[in-house]
Amino acid sequence: MRFEPSGRLRGEVVAPPDKSISHRAALLGAMSVEPVRISNYLRAADTLSTLEALRAVGALVEEHDGGDVVVRGTGLREAREPGGPIDVGNAGTLMRLLPGWLAAQDGRSFVLDGDSSIRRRPVDRIVAPLGLMGAQIEARDGRFAPFVVHGTRLAAITYELPVASAQVKSCVLLAGLCADGTTSVVEPAASRDHTERMLAGAGVAVARDARTVSVTCTDELDARSLVVPGDVSSAAFMITAGVLVKGSRLLVRDVGVNWTRTGFLRILERMGAIAIAELEQPSAAVSAGEPVSDIDVTAGPLEGTVVEADEVPLAIDELPLVALLGCFAEGETIVRGAQELRVKESNRITGVVEGLRGLGATIEATGDGFVVTGHAAGLRGGVLEARGDHRMAMLGAVAGLASSEGVEVRGMEAAAVSYPGFVEDLAQLA
Ligand code: S3P
Repeated sequence: MRFEPSGRLRGEVVAPPDKSISHRAALLGAMSVEPVRISNYLRAADTLSTLEALRAVGALVEEHDGGDVVVRGTGLREAREPGGPIDVGNAGTLMRLLPGWLAAQDGRSFVLDGDSSIRRRPVDRIVAPLGLMGAQIEARDGRFAPFVVHGTRLAAITYELPVASAQVKSCVLLAGLCADGTTSVVEPAASRDHTERMLAGAGVAVARDARTVSVTCTDELDARSLVVPGDVSSAAFMITAGVLVKGSRLLVRDVGVNWTRTGFLRILERMGAIAIAELEQPSAAVSAGEPVSDIDVTAGPLEGTVVEADEVPLAIDELPLVALLGCFAEGETIVRGAQELRVKESNRITGVVEGLRGLGATIEATGDGFVVTGHAAGLRGGVLEARGDHRMAMLGAVAGLASSEGVEVRGMEAAAVSYPGFVEDLAQLA
């Protein structure tokens, strides 16, 4: 699909529902006994994989017109053993979170598998803590899907995360709901805290002390109804287009602006973009403590910036966009401490560096990130391979709009993993 250089972008767009929060809301529904109504659930490939997976383990899931999903769960300890493997599709979050719950299903076993990208993504990071809690997990080569989770009665642990990962933290906290005692996770750096907020909202005793978060085991969750805010990671593509395409002025509506997700907005602010300056006061929490805001975006000149390791988990999925912005900024833009990008839906260090270089960028890969040198002329254009990665596909599209000669994205259909209406939304603003 080709994306031609665009005239100014104008208008409003509503951010699609948050992927991270949709996965978690559905899981919480499945773990509850009372029905849980989820409003504004994301209907995209990844989060539909979650609904199917939860059906496979015994939840009844109704999908209503207008976006509401009602999940009638099994309760915390009564997930059903499915007849065959659970297919997580392309969803890394599902693959890392669901086993936390399944590990607590005493005497039952579950096989998880997914697509070719998921089979290249490590699960040893959850095998280790769940093993310490007493669960036995057999993974291919010790670290990849397909893998089998043998549920058992879990013991509480204190686990120090070797990498800052909200998925691993969430997995351990979910397991902790059924483990004897209090389970704690120590994070090397702050990461998204949707799981903690949602569990606290469902009546779980959740405590935070600096970098340690703890949950105490419980009999039942009390979630009832959840509203999913807009996804700041999806909104980031529209925001970047608005900042880069000359003369643009956009309003991105209903964006979740939980501080643990808005590292990208703070990076943009440092680069001199107007988006954050116009950020409105977050309204009252939508649900489970998630604030939302409209984001006003105006195109303007940018300066290079440095992103250090501490900031990486707060902007992890938006770092490819930081590279794109760096192509248009004055001076150098450097991202460090982001080696995790190598184990996302694709190797996003290689994909971004080779992809943007092919469009005319001056960009070098480092072991843990990249260094971009901006040019006044921005990007020329060319062909960008999505590598089956939704965020790479959307990156290419935005690059095309801001380029001087346009970009052909190979594999644009990958966008459906998180943002099925992306191309239409972009077209409507052009
Ligand atoms: C996610 C956490 C991040 C992020 C992913 C979604 C989540 O992964 O990249 O897209 O929903 O918890 P890691 O926890 O592996 O960093």
